[in-house]
Amino acid sequence: MSFSLPAELHAHSTPFYFYDLALLEQTLTALQQAAQPRGFHVHYALKANVNLPVLERIRQHGLGADCVSGGEVQRALDAGFSPQDVVFAGVGKSDAELNLALAADIWCFNVESVEELVVLNELAGAQNRKARVALRVNPNVDAHTHHYITTGLEANKFGISLVDLPSVVAQLPSLPNLELVGLHAHIGSQITDLRVFGELSDKLNELQNWLEEQGYSLPHLNVGGGLGIDYQAPDQNPVPDFDTYFRTFEQHLVRRPGQRVHMELGRAVVAQCGSLISRVLFVKRSQQTQFAILDAGMTELIRPALYGSHHHIQNLSSQGAVQPYDVVGPICESSDRFGQEVLLPETKRGDLIALRSAGAYGEVMSSHYNLREKAPAYYAHA
Ligand code: LLP
Repeated sequence: MSFSLPAELHAHSTPFYFYDLALLEQTLTALQQAAQPRGFHVHYALKANVNLPVLERIRQHGLGADCVSGGEVQRALDAGFSPQDVVFAGVGKSDAELNLALAADIWCFNVESVEELVVLNELAGAQNRKARVALRVNPNVDAHTHHYITTGLEANKFGISLVDLPSVVAQLPSLPNLELVGLHAHIGSQITDLRVFGELSDKLNELQNWLEEQGYSLPHLNVGGGLGIDYQAPDQNPVPDFDTYFRTFEQHLVRRPGQRVHMELGRAVVAQCGSLISRVLFVKRSQQTQFAILDAGMTELIRPALYGSHHHIQNLSSQGAVQPYDVVGPICESSDRFGQEVLLPETKRGDLIALRSAGAYGEVMSSHYNLREKAPAYYAHA
């Protein structure tokens, strides 16, 4: 399969995001074919992409919603997710956000500290409700990914450390407006060595045994997200290897009868269906380098500047002989660069450029820096 932009979009003003909803459908079908027979439930991590046409497809395929802010909880409800399919995670939830989610009677709060448990207990009491909570533990498993997106190590701010867990659990009986329903862990993102999910499962098995010894049986386990995608070759691997991912948990996680196991996948669901489409403003030649200066920059797609991430870059307009270009944006920052010595067919002003695999953590992380306007989104329908 190779990438093409619908003809009617070639004349649109740039930059814009383009989403291939047929590929999204294909991805969701593959995901559910791997998850459902194994009894796993997937909650889509809204943080990756919150566009309504995307959310609508995801909901239609039966996924739930994993939210990390009041805004995301509201967006999930607006997109038609049932409150029973919504979880609310995050290390710093405000009272207003907790109240919104309590009033909506969402399925579960993933709680990250004793301080948060105390506040949630109070707010739930004030609303005459009992909040279902899962304790987010920090399992100290190394996800072998970029340090900015590693979350399950002792040094990270996320979750309750294993050392503190006994004292947190000991406080639960004094918090009558909370009901412990599960355990939650998330060890990082863009994980490609899937064996770490086996390690995570082993840790969760131990913790679950321990909690049972304390008298808590858990109807729910949430193993987080993190399945990586192929940024190098999006056309060869447009759909992630869901089968190996779910099989790893199937083989390692010791599930209790009737227990619901949730995964929270973001990137793996939406990354490959989205591209940032841009035009070349200028080709500028210096002594050593040719710069292809685009009309999109780090304001539209910050991942390369922030994490040094690779996005496959394609010239959709030229068939010329291949040459190296430094592909950069127009923003006043040296880190505003999408790639160095990228081999592209001879590139000129006005050529259309696709930055691929930008469906996750692309549009949602865009900013107005330099007073730039938000790039619009267009869709090819299935
Ligand atoms: N659950 C929790 C608790 C999370 O923190 C995250 C992502 C996910 C699920 C979804 O992870 P995924 O399946 O998408 O890997 N902006 C970064 C990624 C940050 C991920 C934050 N947490 C990037 O552009 O690579």
